[in-house]
Amino acid sequence: MTRRKLVAGNWKMNGSRAALVELDGIAAAAAAAPNVDVMVAVPFTLIAPAADRAPTLSIGAEDVHEADSGAHTGCVSAAMVKEAGARFTLVGHSERRMDQGETSHDAWAKAAAARRQGLHVISCCGETEAERDADRAERVVQAQIEKSVPDNADGSWFTLAYEPRWAIGTGRTPTLEQIAAIHAIARAKLRTLIGDAADGVRILYGGSVTGDNAATILACDNVDGALVGGASLTAAKFVPIITAAA
Ligand code: G3P
Repeated sequence: MTRRKLVAGNWKMNGSRAALVELDGIAAAAAAAPNVDVMVAVPFTLIAPAADRAPTLSIGAEDVHEADSGAHTGCVSAAMVKEAGARFTLVGHSERRMDQGETSHDAWAKAAAARRQGLHVISCCGETEAERDADRAERVVQAQIEKSVPDNADGSWFTLAYEPRWAIGTGRTPTLEQIAAIHAIARAKLRTLIGDAADGVRILYGGSVTGDNAATILACDNVDGALVGGASLTAAKFVPIITAAA
């Protein structure tokens, strides 16, 4: 099955209103690559101005709460990010797993909440370095997928991102064989959970993707795009990744 490539940026806790100027170049590159979907997840406070500034780009949130509303001080719901202009959200990012103790079950609940609001979801999984060294990467990723993917997931609203934690922001990446192996296992696991719908779900690779390595990573079997952190913060660094996907 042919799946459209998806290149998603994740600004994490970076950016400012002034930095939104970068979206101009990113939107222009996205328009020049009509066969690629381009998304940018930004901090909550930047969603509305980003969506206003770049209406042709898919702007998203980096997280949402699993409840629709209620007594959750400091949290933001899927309905709120949608109202601000978000079209998608990340869930289960390894930094939230590490910093906020989030689990795969939390990622599942957040994906369900986002789905209730009609948001696209990019759900993240990936092993730690210790788990990779102990030869447990495949089992860890399978278990994360099993616990985090909703039964009704399909490619129209759900995307998986494989981000080995040790490759995030480190400049280190797995070998192409390691990437292809995990993506194949992830696809197979999805198939056991959601059947044929698994073929339509895009599986992104994330972790130190740059303009230099994007083309080779994107050419791996079952790699349907990239989730990009540091290199998504400027058009100069992000546009070559979009171009590599086109
Ligand atoms: O979500 C994207 C991310 O965690 C990868 O970050 O900076 O290694 O591209 P980076």
